[in-house]
Amino acid sequence: MKEKIKTYIEGLDEQMTGGIPKGHVVLLSGMPGTMKSSIAYNILFNNARERGIKGLYISLEQGRDSLLDQMFGLGMDHNEVEEGVNVVDMGYLRMHMPHSGESQDWMKIFRMYVENLKASMKYEILIVDSLPVLEMLSAMESRRTDLFELFGWLKEMEITTFIIAEAATDINIVHEEDFLADGIIKLIKERMGTDVQRQIMVDKMRGVKHSTGLYTLMHDGENFRITKVIGD
Ligand SMILES: Nc1ncnc2c1ncn2[C@@H]1O[C@H](COP(=O)(O)OP(=O)(O)OP(=O)(O)O)[C@@H](O)[C@H]1O
Ligand SMILES: [Mg+2]
Repeated sequence: MKEKIKTYIEGLDEQMTGGIPKGHVVLLSGMPGTMKSSIAYNILFNNARERGIKGLYISLEQGRDSLLDQMFGLGMDHNEVEEGVNVVDMGYLRMHMPHSGESQDWMKIFRMYVENLKASMKYEILIVDSLPVLEMLSAMESRRTDLFELFGWLKEMEITTFIIAEAATDINIVHEEDFLADGIIKLIKERMGTDVQRQIMVDKMRGVKHSTGLYTLMHDGENFRITKVIGD
């Protein structure tokens, strides 16, 4: 059986017989504020701390300091994993951008950093936060072809990738990337009376026998965990 990468969301790894197969390209999709970034960082943080697996987080939306402050609030002190987790934001990428006269091709720059950092730091898990921003920056000509190429390139890298994506408000809308990805984890905010509950589901995970049920997602100040949806 293929080796697995744990999400370190208590209960979820058990639902996927141990986690996500190494080498997969997985979409983490959800509406704003559904904890996509927190869950992604949580994967890097715990894999580095517990198993010495290195990770790279490319944050195109949120600045590095803001992201790390938020993670500190969730009980994850970046100082603990400084060696194992590299967080790179737009400011960093801009500063290290090759100076040339021509207009910058962001997709090229993005790929260059992902490849260079793989050679230098040898990370095994990559987070791309987020696909909509990467697309916006790189002005894709043909979305279909460009995404096909991006996913193909990521699969050849022999790393496990989590791509943060937008969720469609209509559940019947399917994105191009949904077909290209090896897995899809969806994050949902569900109104329960006057409360809003966070929920999570594994929509697709190639090569894994998993439940497609909705689970309540909780954070106890230290760890994420799931329970059966309250109200079911
Ligand atoms: N200490 C905390 N404990 C529990 N929930 C928190 C804590 N700190 C922040 N949150 C919640 O997490 C949400 C933001 O999480 P996060 O940034 O990971 O979501 P996101 O899906 O990446 O958001 P965006 O779409 O803006 O990028 C906040 O809206 C807040 O409700
Ligand atoms: Mg985010």
